[in-house]
Amino acid sequence: MRVLILGGTTEARRLAELLHRTPGLTLTSSLAGRVASPRLPPGEVRIGGFGGVEGLTAWLGEHRVDALIDATHPFAGTISFHAALAAATAHVPLLALRRPGWVPVAGDDWREVGSLEEAATLLPTLGHRVFLTTGRMGLAAFAALDDLWFLVRSVDAPEAPHPPRMEVLLDRGPFTLDGERELLRRHRVDVVVTKDSGGDATAPKLTAAREAGLPVVVVRRPPVPEGVPVVGEPEEAVRWIRDRRTFPAAG
Ligand SMILES: NC(=O)c1ccc[n+]([C@@H]2O[C@H](COP(=O)([O-])OP(=O)(O)OC[C@H]3O[C@@H](n4cnc5c(N)ncnc54)[C@H](OP(=O)(O)O)[C@@H]3O)[C@@H](O)[C@H]2O)c1
Repeated sequence: MRVLILGGTTEARRLAELLHRTPGLTLTSSLAGRVASPRLPPGEVRIGGFGGVEGLTAWLGEHRVDALIDATHPFAGTISFHAALAAATAHVPLLALRRPGWVPVAGDDWREVGSLEEAATLLPTLGHRVFLTTGRMGLAAFAALDDLWFLVRSVDAPEAPHPPRMEVLLDRGPFTLDGERELLRRHRVDVVVTKDSGGDATAPKLTAAREAGLPVVVVRRPPVPEGVPVVGEPEEAVRWIRDRRTFPAAG
């Protein structure tokens, strides 16, 4: 049985860890190649785009893929639609592994918006010192906000266009609550911007913001393709694959 995981997330790596020694299963993880030194999953890895829906469809056929797992980030909207179309065309079963979104709790002051552009429009009404955690792509949306100061945290250095007044913090999760508290305090942050990425690794900033009474602008997730089964945990994806398997049970 041959499985292709579309990855770039903690969950995709975890799934590869769970599957890669399974007898009778050939596994390939695919990364887009956005990050200069990605954390690689175990097993075979390919890096780079497929060349749209046609390219992915061809790849599925040429490599005789039996099951496709879309374990990409909730904000990687394009590849998820490509996966749905390619899987349907190539008649390959598809499962989406998508971590659940965050849910506000008592004391949170969240402002939900539909896009980075909407977040940028709202920001001047909320504060002056912004902790921007939406990644290095999409900073152009904030480039005209020259009255605000930004602390931009990203894995790789951002490129222009970006806000004129910014400090860049190169780092990647998981982050700790103590670390996030200290960051907000040290930089005198008065508003936080995040995508609704979900997951534990980057959630402590939400707790730290709540404790400090800061507003958080939360960018809602983009739409997902209809009709694709979704699970939230890598272990559930393993069970889904096993239900389709023609390979011997592990261990
Ligand atoms: N967007 C985020 O906030 C975010 C955060 C953390 C990690 N990531 C990861 O970074 C990758 C790129 O994100 P994005 O927002 O640029 O995605 P996207 O907008 O959905 O995809 C753009 C293009 O990148 C290629 N691509 C995306 N994921 C791929 C994968 N796993 N393997 C091979 N090609 C892939 C595809 O190129 P072709 O059309 O040429 O096939 C796709 O059309 C994703 O895999 C995602 O899991 C994204």
